Amino acid sequence: NSEKIRELVEKRAEARLGGGEKRIEKQHAQGKFTARERINMLCDEGSFEEYDMFVTHRTKSFGLDKQQYYSDGVVTGRGTVDGRVIFVFAQDFTVFGGSLSETFANKICKIMDQAMKVGAPVIGLNDSGGARIQEGVRSLAGYAEIFQRNIMASGVIPQISGIFGPCAGGAVYSPALTDFILMTEDTSYMFVTGPKVVQSVTGEVITTEDLGGARVHSTKSGVSHFVAQNDEEGIMLIRKMLSYMPSNNLEEPPVLECDDAIDRLEDSLNEIIPDNPNQPYDVLDVIHAIADYGEFLEVQRNFAKNICIGFARFNGRPVGIVANQPKFLAGVLDIQSSIKAARFVRFCDAFNIPIVTLVDVPGFLPGSGQEYGGIITHGAKLLFAYGEATVPKITITLRKSYGGAHDVMSCKQLRGDLNYAWPTAEIAVMGAKGAVEVLEGRNIRGIEDKTERAKFIQEKEDEYSTKFANPYLAAKYGFIDDIIEPRNTRFRIIRALEGLSTKKELNPPKKHSNMPL
Ligand code: COA
Repeated sequence: NSEKIRELVEKRAEARLGGGEKRIEKQHAQGKFTARERINMLCDEGSFEEYDMFVTHRTKSFGLDKQQYYSDGVVTGRGTVDGRVIFVFAQDFTVFGGSLSETFANKICKIMDQAMKVGAPVIGLNDSGGARIQEGVRSLAGYAEIFQRNIMASGVIPQISGIFGPCAGGAVYSPALTDFILMTEDTSYMFVTGPKVVQSVTGEVITTEDLGGARVHSTKSGVSHFVAQNDEEGIMLIRKMLSYMPSNNLEEPPVLECDDAIDRLEDSLNEIIPDNPNQPYDVLDVIHAIADYGEFLEVQRNFAKNICIGFARFNGRPVGIVANQPKFLAGVLDIQSSIKAARFVRFCDAFNIPIVTLVDVPGFLPGSGQEYGGIITHGAKLLFAYGEATVPKITITLRKSYGGAHDVMSCKQLRGDLNYAWPTAEIAVMGAKGAVEVLEGRNIRGIEDKTERAKFIQEKEDEYSTKFANPYLAAKYGFIDDIIEPRNTRFRIIRALEGLSTKKELNPPKKHSNMPL
């Protein structure tokens, strides 16, 4: 028996070495950790249980039958994060460059299937040279087996992808189907076709980093939701993300103990809105002032900066925050910001995370660029997402809420549960300047004298502002439930969330909606 046990111990030790010391050293020299090291950082200490350690590939051609490595390039298993079960796979670049074989895909599918039965998140740590070239079409089939599972799991269990190395070709589509993508700076890249193919097909010369590095995907394409300096920071961020999410769509998100006073008054908020309506302020200051401990886990912080999205807590309860950001493009809605916020609203709704919306929106960005790009369809995504969402929805209008954008931003008629406004709110079809131009255009043109004309415009604008640029008309009709003192916002949100915590609302049964994509 002792001989057999020794054999097991040896085999395990061999498996843990992946592609061998040399390749591990190469990985470390690039500032990267190995698959098993990453898993150990992700899971609570000692909680990880590996599955399928002794799996090897079945390919005989290209001399591969002589190259066998236990685990076959991917480490899979179950562990816990903050005591809650998660499933994880980590591609092992030291074995065939982490390339995906049929058996490799089977291992991932096995844990995904179990995660669905158990109702636990799947975390994928990607670092791979793509399809295992020697396996050909079997490898492509393996990807598709994973994609299908990603699709079925979407909205049932949270799926998070960490990109810690190469992720190219078809391999990008599994992360793309998951809820959140995190990339590491300098060591990761994602693209459908690499620089060499790009050059041969289009003639464009571009580096790997400029084509698919963390910077471009977090600023230009929006593909990456989070960027980390290195593997360790990335894994800690994944742990943090999980803390805001339930394990599956039938559970509520975890509520934490909270020592931050629920009735903390934030006097600074009474002063934060500038007197001049065209002057910006930073909506992040509002979020930091109202959330528990000022904490906000911002998602896609460098993409479509005219809208801020992310996770926070109120008295320990996780929420998703969507906030127009007056600091960028005056907080307008445009194609990118609509898409960014729509997907986030849908994530929150799928996983029972209430949505707090902070509104200061002057409207949609005008122009042919936006119209040709399909702002009608893309803006409708956010409208659709809010209207479809059945989680508690709390809206606070801080300042502007104009026109169609007012409707989109979680208004009362999109089943907003509690719609509050600050006294500085201006809820109207448009701003005073635009309104006066339309309504008084003929009269304005009739005044020859410049000073007279300016005076007339000013008078009319003042008249319009007094009449419409306030929250009282909306409150009169019940479209705003209450007008609140800004410094009280935290307390009002906390009480609203408590009052709505048992909310039940169902959409009519259907196969699925046909949201504008
Ligand atoms: N299939 C099989 N083996 C692969 C592989 C793949 N797709 N990608 C990498 N490998 C192997 C390499 O042969 C090498 O093996 P070795 O350690 O026995 O020498 C090992 O993985 C490491 O690859 P290497 O090229 O030395 O690493 P690198 O860091 O210099 O480059 C890549 C990484 C991903 C850029 C490069 O390996 C590559 O271009 N791979 C092919 C990508 C591709 O086109 N995939 C198919 C598209 S779906």
